[in-house]
Amino acid sequence: MAVITGRGCIAAIGLIVIAFVVGLMIGLFAPQRYGPKSDLILRRLTRDAEPDVGNTLISGIDPAIIDKHLQYLTSRPHLAGTPDNLRTAEYVKDQWTEQGYDVQMVPYDVLLSYPEENHINTASLVASDGRVLYQTSTGEHAFSHGESHPEVVQPYNAFSPSGHPESELVYANYARDVDFENLARLGVNVSGKIVIARYGQIFRGNKVNFAYQNGAVGIILFMDPSDYTDGNVTYPDSIWLPPTGVQRGNIVMIKGDQATPGYPATWYTERLTEEELKAKLPKIPCHPIGYADAYMLLREMEGTAAPPEWQGGLNITYRLGGTMAANTKVKLFVKNKLKTVKIYNVIAKMKGVIESDRVVLIGNHRDAWVFGGVDPSSGSAAMLEMSRVYAERVKGGWEPRRSVMFCSWDAEEFGLVGSYEWVEENVMWLRNQAVAYLNIDSTTAGNYSIGVAATPTLRRAVFRAAKKVPDYNQAGQTLFDVWRERNPDTLNSEFPRLKMPGAGSDFVPFEEDVAIPTLTAAYRNMDLGYRVHKEHTHPLYHTLYDGYRYVKMIDPELGTARSVAALVIETARDLVDSLILPLDVRDYAEAVEGYIETLFDSEKRTIFFSRHNIGGYQVRIAQFYQSRRGISLGFGQS
Ligand SMILES: *[C@@H]1O[C@H](CO)[C@@H](O)[C@H](O)[C@H]1NC(C)=O
Ligand SMILES: *[C@@H]1O[C@H](CO)[C@@H](O)[C@H](O)[C@H]1NC(C)=O
Ligand SMILES: *[C@@H]1O[C@H](CO)[C@@H](O)[C@H](O)[C@H]1NC(C)=O
Ligand SMILES: [Zn+2]
Repeated sequence: MAVITGRGCIAAIGLIVIAFVVGLMIGLFAPQRYGPKSDLILRRLTRDAEPDVGNTLISGIDPAIIDKHLQYLTSRPHLAGTPDNLRTAEYVKDQWTEQGYDVQMVPYDVLLSYPEENHINTASLVASDGRVLYQTSTGEHAFSHGESHPEVVQPYNAFSPSGHPESELVYANYARDVDFENLARLGVNVSGKIVIARYGQIFRGNKVNFAYQNGAVGIILFMDPSDYTDGNVTYPDSIWLPPTGVQRGNIVMIKGDQATPGYPATWYTERLTEEELKAKLPKIPCHPIGYADAYMLLREMEGTAAPPEWQGGLNITYRLGGTMAANTKVKLFVKNKLKTVKIYNVIAKMKGVIESDRVVLIGNHRDAWVFGGVDPSSGSAAMLEMSRVYAERVKGGWEPRRSVMFCSWDAEEFGLVGSYEWVEENVMWLRNQAVAYLNIDSTTAGNYSIGVAATPTLRRAVFRAAKKVPDYNQAGQTLFDVWRERNPDTLNSEFPRLKMPGAGSDFVPFEEDVAIPTLTAAYRNMDLGYRVHKEHTHPLYHTLYDGYRYVKMIDPELGTARSVAALVIETARDLVDSLILPLDVRDYAEAVEGYIETLFDSEKRTIFFSRHNIGGYQVRIAQFYQSRRGISLGFGQS
């Protein structure tokens, strides 16, 4: 820094004063050059959103058009990486092109996991002399409602390694860490055994990981009837899980393309070697079965009876196992293969008029385990209708301030692959230019109440939108009223419950890597009696039976898809068109305070939370608290 002497200082002040006076003169006496035209430009630049646009968008959503898209998208199985899913990509592309968007297909070459051809993954009950006494079914029963199709993929857990371990079974309830702790306390050694556990409560990948950490050599997962049925009437006569229904699903702990962590899966990106992949992928074979098959295996188990909370809905006493009747064993036979395939995201853009470099994103995945009725086609169909009403309004003369992008992701079911790869390729500009990402997925997972998870900054905008949107299943009420009544905030019942975005759909890379506000919304069943998972899933989740017929059983008029579409497009309009972005950091601060309070363990002076459930930038905020309050951070269970 230069030292300023006394004389130099006076001269500098003099110069500043002269410059200031000259500037004032120019301002006062310059000829008036701003005519009515520039006035118009100025007014356009500073105009606020036109509130009536939202009403046209909301009332424009047509459930008959949603139904038409739903029928097309669910007409064939469309697993990621198959020609049938390229067909859905082309359908979405054609729809958006016709609606007037600038559309791009964005392919990536990613590593997915499929069952080996000409092999059926099974679990068998084996006698001590090696005879096979029972073998689990080779697929789900096809009723006469179009379930029979050559492209249906057999039930499997993607990214399970191949293998054929043979051992006694140990029953581990939901296979959470606490369940394994209880097993150890009860004196059951899991080491060298095959774990059998029910789906629910936590992500299935964690179950596999916990089983592995406790020394298991394999794991079998099943959906217990107590969690996925309500009485004995099941699909096709109700929405409840039939005995052969099986939940598919990936078991990877790290999301995105497994071979290109942190980088887009393009031709120029280096892939992990086979050894590196092996080190990060699941270590023990995992196989999902239906509860009819689970019954046949569980009833052969010996050992002490499992605790009362561990008893499920099958007509047997669930035992902890370790030994089995007549020295039988269970043999898993899993043959999966990793395969590099092309996947396709479809991205539709429409430029804003004033701040065209700012973009609001709306997205949903398109790939499904089988027909994908609720998951994800109820959401995809709703999204195609949202983009239509938006484009129609623009054709009608509306000039949205910012840009919008609609995104149809591929390979979400294999670990959010399509969205992660796209974010990895575009993260630099997204961090600077993306305003928010609004996600929908299984829009019609139930008909009781909407459930929304959002970054707290979006709270006011979402509530404002919900007050404008009718609940189409409850005539005369707004979505806000029904939501508040059926799914209230646990701390303040004046408001509906707004959850924190957790994991499990394509908003995750936007929440955690781009670090922008995100939202995900779906209609759910909160009261229908499935105790487990009741807010996360629905009875036919990832089974053969989640198709068009199932969606229409849950919601014949598609009023739920219509309400969710209206809520999301109105929230998007607010974000696209408002002069000042409708994001409120005070709500964020308040929410973080709340989390810290609930997570703060005053005895240990430690904040415990799971990095997986709280996004990266929330972790940084927690670290800030740590430095202010002199408390330490712990990662793990809350
Ligand atoms: C469990 O069994 C394994 C293998 O038989 C053994 O190495 C281990 O020590 C056992 N653990 C306990 C706690 O008994
Ligand atoms: C369901 O249970 C009821 C009552 O236990 C019984 O009467 C009925 O026959 C059962 N229906 C079927 C399809 O099993
Ligand atoms: C949801 O659907 C079921 C089955 O059609 C119906 O009995 C129930 O009344 C519906 N619930 C609501 C809240 O609309
Ligand atoms: Zn989904």
